[in-house]
Amino acid sequence: MTYRLFEGKEHASIYQQFRFTPPEEVKNIILQYLDRKKGQPHSLAVDLGCGTGQNSRLIAPHFQEVVGIDISECQLEEARGVPGYPNITYREGTAEELPFPDGSVDLLTAASAAHWFDESRFLPEASRVLKPRGCLALLSYNDYGTRFYYKDCGEKLMKIYKEVKQLLLPHTTAPVVACEGKLEKLYSAIPFPDKERIECIPVNTHVSVRNLVGLIESFSMFQIYKSKDPRCAQDLLLNTQKRFLEEMGVTSPDTEVEVELEYFCVLASKPQ
Ligand SMILES: C[S@@+](CC[C@H](N)C(=O)[O-])C[C@H]1O[C@@H](n2cnc3c(N)ncnc32)[C@H](O)[C@@H]1O
Repeated sequence: MTYRLFEGKEHASIYQQFRFTPPEEVKNIILQYLDRKKGQPHSLAVDLGCGTGQNSRLIAPHFQEVVGIDISECQLEEARGVPGYPNITYREGTAEELPFPDGSVDLLTAASAAHWFDESRFLPEASRVLKPRGCLALLSYNDYGTRFYYKDCGEKLMKIYKEVKQLLLPHTTAPVVACEGKLEKLYSAIPFPDKERIECIPVNTHVSVRNLVGLIESFSMFQIYKSKDPRCAQDLLLNTQKRFLEEMGVTSPDTEVEVELEYFCVLASKPQ
């Protein structure tokens, strides 16, 4: 089954503004793994489900060429609008049918995207296009480990966030549940003997209240909720921002909260 939940122009723009860029820590883990398993040169990286290109831009300085692939043209339009990355090209396509010859790719990445792919078609395709000893890196963060800190009200902010997630629960799809489970099933199905799953990479970042609410707006379950009940969905965002600000005792949505996230990363290397 192909999921098409990231198609709208407005959703793509929300994505570009509010989604987290994968952290340097995770990027370094992936590049070190690639160096250990395959070594130089780092010619071609392909970023699957690249969305608006956050991860493609992060890895671009380390490769001669990066190709971002996404099923959504609107997401790609946002990605192409970011200047300054001459070695990245963005192409519309799917992770299950890649436009590359056999044995031509050094690194395949998917940031917060692999759970949307059709595992039974994606894994053979990944195996086909990777060079011998080329690597697969599937990364994301998992909301179980998310924590907020702001003066003494971090717990209360977390309670508000959890309430929002609870309200959106009926709109949660099976792929999102698989991501929360750190891609356990997909990991088991990877046909390469050389593989590992790093389950917890803690990362700290600062996010404004405005962007936290924007992040909620970018969730697929929020978009499903919005398609069913646009007014209630809009009220949920306004009300969540109001509750965050009240709890923090501030009026500006630019006020930043410290956010602790738990990333995970599935790594695998194709046999020689
Ligand atoms: C949650 S977004 C992640 C985007 C970006 N990688 C990031 O880190 O923010 C998932 C992306 O995967 C894309 N996608 C979903 N299924 C896909 C498939 N089968 N092949 C390629 N892209 C797909 C969606 O269009 C969307 O842009």
